[in-house]
Amino acid sequence: MPNQRIEVLIAIIMATLGEKKLLITRNLQEVLGEEKLNEILKTRDLKIYWGTATTGRPHVAYFVPMSKIADFLKAGCEVTILFADLHAYLDNMKAPWELLALRTQYYEAAIKAMLTSIGVPLEKLKFVRGTEYQLSKEYTLDVYRMSSVITEHDAKKAGAEVVKQVDHPLLSGLLYPGLQALDEEYLKVDAQFGGVDQRKIFTMAEKYLPQLNYAKRIHFMNPMVPGLTGGKMSASEEDSKIDLLDNPSNVKKKLKKAFCEPGNITENGVLSFTKHVVFPLMKPGETFKICRAPEHGGNVEYTDFEHLEAAFAKEEIHPGDLKVSVEQAINNLLAPIQEIFKDPKLQELTKKAYPPPSKAKGKGNTEVDDITPSKLDIRVGRIVDVSRHPDADALYVEKIDLGEEDPRTIVSGLVNFVPIEEMQNRDVVVLCNLKPAKMRGVESKGMVLCASIDEPKQVEPLLPPQGSNPGDKIVIEGYETGEPDDVLNPKKKVWEKLQVDLKTNDSLMAVWQGNKLISKINGNPTTTKSMKNAQIK
Ligand SMILES: *[C@@H]1O[C@H](CO)[C@@H](O)[C@H](O)[C@H]1NC(C)=O
Ligand SMILES: *[C@@H]1O[C@H](CO)[C@@H](O)[C@H](O)[C@H]1NC(C)=O
Repeated sequence: MPNQRIEVLIAIIMATLGEKKLLITRNLQEVLGEEKLNEILKTRDLKIYWGTATTGRPHVAYFVPMSKIADFLKAGCEVTILFADLHAYLDNMKAPWELLALRTQYYEAAIKAMLTSIGVPLEKLKFVRGTEYQLSKEYTLDVYRMSSVITEHDAKKAGAEVVKQVDHPLLSGLLYPGLQALDEEYLKVDAQFGGVDQRKIFTMAEKYLPQLNYAKRIHFMNPMVPGLTGGKMSASEEDSKIDLLDNPSNVKKKLKKAFCEPGNITENGVLSFTKHVVFPLMKPGETFKICRAPEHGGNVEYTDFEHLEAAFAKEEIHPGDLKVSVEQAINNLLAPIQEIFKDPKLQELTKKAYPPPSKAKGKGNTEVDDITPSKLDIRVGRIVDVSRHPDADALYVEKIDLGEEDPRTIVSGLVNFVPIEEMQNRDVVVLCNLKPAKMRGVESKGMVLCASIDEPKQVEPLLPPQGSNPGDKIVIEGYETGEPDDVLNPKKKVWEKLQVDLKTNDSLMAVWQGNKLISKINGNPTTTKSMKNAQIK
């Protein structure tokens, strides 16, 4: 009899242990140190931290880590949230020094509002700012100790996916991963949680903390959830993200652009949002409802993600209907946050921490690296009609199919370089978002990109990537994410500044700072027929 009771007791303990572990690890992509997790859970609850560098405005994708934090709390974990203010600066000054304190205040308010919105009791969490302890004597000495065990190679490798990669990397980017490792020790946690993009930093921490006689920690990694509006989850391309303060009509507008193909469940940001946010946050008995007119199958409800995903894969759920439900879910999540942010103090803070670009101007480094090649809208075009310009000998007037409803009129100075027969039906590479300009009375809505050498003058239109069709997008390798500008700002000379680094190289490839111009569809490179080391313009 007593034996039996003990067995039952053990079974109950094992079940709660199992349940805690399940909650802690569900939806994660990877866990490093699972055995240690099992050991700790046998005797006590886990201590864990999540850090966020206080850079760009947090947006709806931040609900993904937030809902994991809710899981950790449900599993009894002691959770610390680190506002990594120093890190925000070390990462290529993403937060300018003079805005650092304001951004940290904004993050604190925004993250707390998000947690409130999803029903997480704030008093159960610990909030810490990096500079509260990262400037102490002990910590500083440890940074120096760390910097004499970590090799430069390892520090660079560790930061490769997190620290912004630039042409002239700063020393600060090498310090970043080491500080993050030390944070684990100074926050007195068993585990760190982050996106899988942090993996190299995590493994570096595992390698080097023991060399300073500190314990190796457990690491939990969320998958990189595809963004709702394209690109990976990052706060750096504000316009393309759904901001916490976006009103319902903005949410609708941005969600409209979300990639969500009928039946396609890979890279589907809308579906992923339900998996990582909507379902995990549902209370017992709640369902995810798709509302449809009776002639479209009527309403359906789902209690788990797997069934919703299967139905979507079978095209039983239309992307439009899914988006409507997700839009509702997002608005429900945002409403309480926006209520909190009605506070005039917070409105003032929002304005100060993220001054609109025009006001930030002249403040020097607040717009670091504003000009990236993802601003360019480059597409494959097919010349469907071509004629000589009525008033200019050197110019052709082309009608180019760019995958839009109507072909665009584009004027190019190619008469002396390409015979008119070779222009007809030719596939070309077109810069589509130049400000339209009249050329001798004919408005040109774009530019055919060519390799060009001045002495002696030679010009050759670029060759589109193999297997391309009109309208296919061309992106610069390494800069695939981010929406191109509607129109490249002529006052800021965006095109001119990017153009200086556009060239063809020795192997006839079109490159920007050495990165290929590739088809977004099939990855093939843009090339030129014969002109090596020429400017592209
Ligand atoms: C689904 O979308 C992804 C991302 O664009 C694409 O790579 C994949 O080929 C699509 N799958 C199907 C079955 O169409
Ligand atoms: C041309 O650029 C591509 C992409 O960077 C590179 O792979 C190739 O090696 C370059 N060719 C030469 C000869 O430098």
